[in-house]
Amino acid sequence: MTHEVRAVVARKKGAPVSVETVLVPDPGPGEALVRVQACGVCHTDLHYREGGIGDAFPFLLGHEAAGVVESVGEGVTDVAPGDFVILNWRAVCGDCRACRRGRPWYCFATHNATRPMTLADGTPLSPALGIGAFAEKTLVAAGQCTKVDPIAAPAAAGLLGCGVMAGFGAAVNTGGVGRGDSLAVIGCGGVGMAAITGAKVAGAGRIIAVDVDERKLKWAERFGATDTVDSSRTDAVEAIRELTGGFGADVVVDAVGRPETFKQAFYARDLAGTAVLVGVPTPELTLELPLLDVFGRGGALKSSWYGDCLPSRDFPALIDLYLQGRFDLGGFVTETIGPDDVEAAFTKMHHGDVLRSVVVL
Ligand SMILES: NC(=O)c1ccc[n+]([C@@H]2O[C@H](COP(=O)([O-])OP(=O)(O)OC[C@H]3O[C@@H](n4cnc5c(N)ncnc54)[C@H](O)[C@@H]3O)[C@@H](O)[C@H]2O)c1
Ligand SMILES: [Zn+2]
Ligand SMILES: [Zn+2]
Repeated sequence: MTHEVRAVVARKKGAPVSVETVLVPDPGPGEALVRVQACGVCHTDLHYREGGIGDAFPFLLGHEAAGVVESVGEGVTDVAPGDFVILNWRAVCGDCRACRRGRPWYCFATHNATRPMTLADGTPLSPALGIGAFAEKTLVAAGQCTKVDPIAAPAAAGLLGCGVMAGFGAAVNTGGVGRGDSLAVIGCGGVGMAAITGAKVAGAGRIIAVDVDERKLKWAERFGATDTVDSSRTDAVEAIRELTGGFGADVVVDAVGRPETFKQAFYARDLAGTAVLVGVPTPELTLELPLLDVFGRGGALKSSWYGDCLPSRDFPALIDLYLQGRFDLGGFVTETIGPDDVEAAFTKMHHGDVLRSVVVL
């Protein structure tokens, strides 16, 4: 059977997104059909629309989602119809060179559904990050469904599917922030704010929020920042050094992904400190650094793909922290909207008016 649903599609590079009728097939072997309840609008969806992540248009957007499994294909045993799940873009294969070496959070052969979702005229769609969840139903690999406590509110829970997990994990998993460490976060959108929250939950000492938008800095204080730096007025590197005894932070997370912010992260770390790049750069950007500084400052320059998370380990644990009131996941939901409002949500994101707009379906 084919399911006819309404969904948000980016048809052409740079063109406004549109709500279209999309055909979703029943799950094949190893696949699950999910009734999507909520899906956050992430900057990555905008990158897709702008052609920053390949040109496999039309894209079926949306990838930070929670919902209920409606049906499963042959051989699926981990999830069953009725399960409340968060969708992930890291369904680990268990068999690639990373998985075999015990590092499944790097899995190089993650699974997606293979049966195509299409426009009404049969044109196949490319689902964003293999998910495509600004849709009433979507088809994914069963391993992309992580079961969590169904008491969690779908609009909040879905955010763990991408941005919040990426930011939280960038600080805690990739950066290894722990008790007493100092952290600076450059760019306090949904991702950066989650890095701040992660550091707070992990027991960091100083947590410095850096942004060019004062409103974000005010919000950052609510999420646990101990200090804020408006880098549109102040030199971020000097300010971070001043706040850390003149040395720099143990870990600096760049949640913007531009050469200038990465350079700030590079120089605002203490000697032997760690810079974590979680913001996604666009293809034309390049970085120039004195090689002697790369050597002389030591430490680690790391990229964080999806916060180096393992959905089966991290999603249920973070949902528990949220339900215990120790992690303000609900605070990331600035507004709930309908599928027709995604284009407006991009504009609000661009203007910094929201942390997350969440499409409720
Ligand atoms: N690595 C991953 O796995 C992963 C996952 C999800 C999102 N991302 C990426 O993370 C980035 C942030 O996503 P988001 O949803 O938080 O975006 P967002 O647009 O909500 O937030 C970006 C923030 O950066 C601030 N900013 C912009 N330029 C700045 C500058 N020069 N200095 C300081 N602050 C600046 C903005 O004011 C805003 O607060 C995006 O590039 C997104 O694609 C990466
Ligand atoms: Zn693998
Ligand atoms: Zn995302």
